[in-house]
This record gives sequence, structure tokens and C-alpha cells, in this order.
Amino acid sequence: MFEISTKELFLWIKDIKKNKQGIDDFYLLLDLLGGISKSELLLLKINAQEKVNLNIDLISLKKKWLEYIKLSKPIQYISGSTYWRNFKFELTNDVLIPRVETEQIVEIASNIFDYEDKKIIFADLGTGSGTISISLVVENSNWKGLATDIDINAIQVAQKNHKKICSESNINFYCGNWWEPLKKYSGRINLAISNPPYIPRSVYEKLPSSVKDFEPKIALYGGEDGLYHIQQIISDAPKFLVKGGWLILENHFDQSKKIKNLLRDYGFNSLKTINDTFGIGRFTIGRYK
Ligand SMILES: C[S@@+](CC[C@H](N)C(=O)[O-])C[C@H]1O[C@@H](n2cnc3c(N)ncnc32)[C@H](O)[C@@H]1O
Repeated sequence: MFEISTKELFLWIKDIKKNKQGIDDFYLLLDLLGGISKSELLLLKINAQEKVNLNIDLISLKKKWLEYIKLSKPIQYISGSTYWRNFKFELTNDVLIPRVETEQIVEIASNIFDYEDKKIIFADLGTGSGTISISLVVENSNWKGLATDIDINAIQVAQKNHKKICSESNINFYCGNWWEPLKKYSGRINLAISNPPYIPRSVYEKLPSSVKDFEPKIALYGGEDGLYHIQQIISDAPKFLVKGGWLILENHFDQSKKIKNLLRDYGFNSLKTINDTFGIGRFTIGRYK
């Protein structure tokens, strides 16, 4: 722990606000690296506390903030961590920063099966930092996860997060192309979830530098129309899902109609578009026969 003068900290905060440097990002950095939340900071002020204990010394914190100011590097990569649902996950440059809208996938998946004690085998295709599968096994104690990713470094991040958050070995991790490492589970998977790379070329090219320069292209870019990977995932799904098994996909704001047509072509029914909290048709789901 490092003892820091609250006066000095609040003067710095005042300066950041005055220079419009991104105060919310500063609070996030302070929380992730310093271990103090915005509401705890407010209490310091109310209680007129002279000193505050942080998990990082002031010089190192200033260096990290400068990295953000100079490079527009996302705070989550600077701190090597992020909050997602109920947990703090570790991150590296090899994985996408998990987005808030993706959190809803966990509810959608959990709500599909209502009989609590049935054993469910689910696949999380393109697991990244492991957020979706880890949250699912924590919330559904009888579920067993199979998490895949094409990038071995992403798999290592996910495994580390799994070890930190779960005491049980309820997820197996595999490196490979979508379903390909899951051959021995053919016809046995009850549910598959994927937040695949779905950004079309024209949109990818115009992404802000804070995304394009730092987040892995392999995690974002979905080919010319954004549907390259989604098509692969859907076309192989019938080999792996049980009859009556579900597929949940996250997609770009305008892709759901096309995805439903694809799902229909491959034998899915009960097709549905689900809006995210911003009212965008962010998720498409279907049931295999
Ligand atoms: C949009 S990110 C999603 C990461 C994480 N599931 C999340 O929601 O934050 C897509 C993930 O798919 C992985 N990926 C890309 N191409 C893949 C492929 N052909 N097979 C398996 N995974 C792939 C990327 O490495 C990346 O981790």
C-alpha cells in the first residue's frame, strides 16, 4: 500500500477536469490500479481525510496516466484488467476488451434452460478473456463449458481468469478454429454462444484509433460484410448441437435479419432477435430442429 495526500490527489483530479482529459477514464484507472472507487473517493472528501492508501505509488500512477494521454491507449490495457459483470478480469493486448452490451448474453443463455439441475454442456466459441464462459459456470453450477479460441495467447488469459475466479475445473479450453477442436463432442452440445468478429470492412476501416490501434484485428474484423465467421459458425453448428440445442450469436446492429435467414437454411427454428439495453438488435438466437 502507498500513502498519498488526498489534497494532492484532488488537485490532480481538478486539473484533469479543467483540461477535459477524460475524468471517467481517470476514475477507472484509479479504481483498477489504485484500488479505490469513485464513491470511495467522494467519501474521502466528505470525511476530509488527509491521506489515502492506494495499491500503486503516485509516480507510477502518473506514468500510466501519461501513457493514456499521449497514446489514447485504453485504460483496460494500461491496467491489464477490467470489470465485467461481477468480476475483475485480467486482460492483455491479445484479447478484446469485453463490452458492457455483451454482459446480456449470460442472462439470455441462463434463461433458456429453466430446470436448474439438468447438466448442460455449452460451447463458448471465441472465448477471448473467458468472460462469458466463466460467468456462465459461476451462475449455473451444473453446467460444463467448452471454450475455444484461435489465439493461444487468448486461451492462456482465459485460463488464468478461470483459475482466479473458479475453484472447480468446469471449463475445458481449446485452441483452434471455431468448432474444430470440439470434434469429440459432436452431437452432444446443448448450447453454443459466440461473440465472433463481426465488423464489416468499411466500418472496421473507420474505427477510432483507440480501438483499431490497440484491440486485436482478429477479434473484430468479420470480412467484407462482417458475416464471414458467423457463416462458418452456423454452417457447422448442426454437427455439434444436440437436437433442440440452442445457438446464441452477438452481431452488428444490422445483421440479425441475414443471420436468421442463415439459421433457417441450416435447420434452425424458434428464431429471435434480442435487443441490447441500447435498443439495438444485438443478439440472434435459434434452436436446432
Ligand atoms: C469479439 S471477440 C470476443 C471475445 C469474448 N468472447 C468477449 O465477448 O469479449 C472474438 C474472439 O474470437 C476469436 N476468434 C477469431 N477468429 C477465430 C476463429 N477462426 N476461431 C476461433 N476463435 C476465433 C478472437 O481471437 C477473439 O478472442
